[in-house]
Amino acid sequence: MPNRLFDLIVVSDCVLDIYYMVDKLPIEAGDFIVSRRAVLSPGGACTTALLARKLGLEVAVIDEIGDDPFSEILIRALKDAGIHTGLMKRVHGFTTVSNDIISSSGHAFVGYLGVGAGLDLRGLDENALRGSRAVFINGTYAALSEAAADALMRLARIARRSSLPVFLDPGPIINERTRGLVEEADVVLPNEEEAKSLFHASLEEAIHSIRNSGKVFAIKLGRGGAVVVDGSGPAHCAASSPRSILTTIGAGDAFDAGYVAGVLGGLDPIASCGLANAVASLRLEHLTPMEVPDLSYLLHLHTKRLGREGEEGVE
Ligand SMILES: Nc1ncnc2c1ncn2[C@@H]1O[C@H](COP(=O)(O)OP(=O)(O)OP(=O)(O)O)[C@@H](O)[C@H]1O
Ligand SMILES: [Mg+2]
Repeated sequence: MPNRLFDLIVVSDCVLDIYYMVDKLPIEAGDFIVSRRAVLSPGGACTTALLARKLGLEVAVIDEIGDDPFSEILIRALKDAGIHTGLMKRVHGFTTVSNDIISSSGHAFVGYLGVGAGLDLRGLDENALRGSRAVFINGTYAALSEAAADALMRLARIARRSSLPVFLDPGPIINERTRGLVEEADVVLPNEEEAKSLFHASLEEAIHSIRNSGKVFAIKLGRGGAVVVDGSGPAHCAASSPRSILTTIGAGDAFDAGYVAGVLGGLDPIASCGLANAVASLRLEHLTPMEVPDLSYLLHLHTKRLGREGEEGVE
């Protein structure tokens, strides 16, 4: 049977987010708080998967989830969004869940680290990657567990052997295992703190090191947009202006989706960064990534702008 062809395979950190909207944070012992809303949505790297799908990409997820009711909800939401879940493996235990509590002054998380932390992709058929166009890895669990780091390194190597570009969001915890994973990536998508921590350096020094690394980095700067660094030097790309900001949760994951879609659509790093900022900005306007509307027009708009529509377009 011929392989199904995916534009993007999203690997690891697929979590179930439960969103609450409250009037005040912090919540203290003895408080009785009623949320104005409660919404479930795929989160973590599955925000990237969802928004890549909304941009029109064919997306599959590789991850391990539990055999609990949370996994059922997660799989159902991904399937409903048109994402391929056949490469996700169920193992005994709990799926990673994050309770995302949002107030007008910011947000707080109460999460549970599920079976994804013990990610073990030895059973993965290498053929699953062949015929696809790119791999996106979220490195959060590599920092948390040796097993996950080994699995993600192995997968990155398989991808590169199959000539698939490897995009990496290193995640918020940076250690030597994360740095090992960065070595295996073609494009790295950290935020400012993560970039500094990767190089034990200031942002300027990190940029200097990246220029000689042979890799492309797009470093996310919150409301400052992002800076793209490759061999030809750093270039800033300004953030888009959201009409309103409901939450900044998952802004970085949304940026990642836009960046990868841009590159796969034939855009250069700066133009991909522009698309990434636009996708992140739209994410901020909605409570969950599921509520973001179809974005395929946005990819067409950005590819058209450069007169490249159809060149390597994503269908
Ligand atoms: N206030 C804002 N206004 C406009 N755009 C924003 C704002 N905050 C974030 N963004 C957009 O979101 C992108 C990612 O934001 P940020 O630098 O916070 O990433 P991050 O720390 O990786 O986020 P995450 O918490 O999702 O991991 C930015 O590059 C920018 O495009
Ligand atoms: Mg991030």
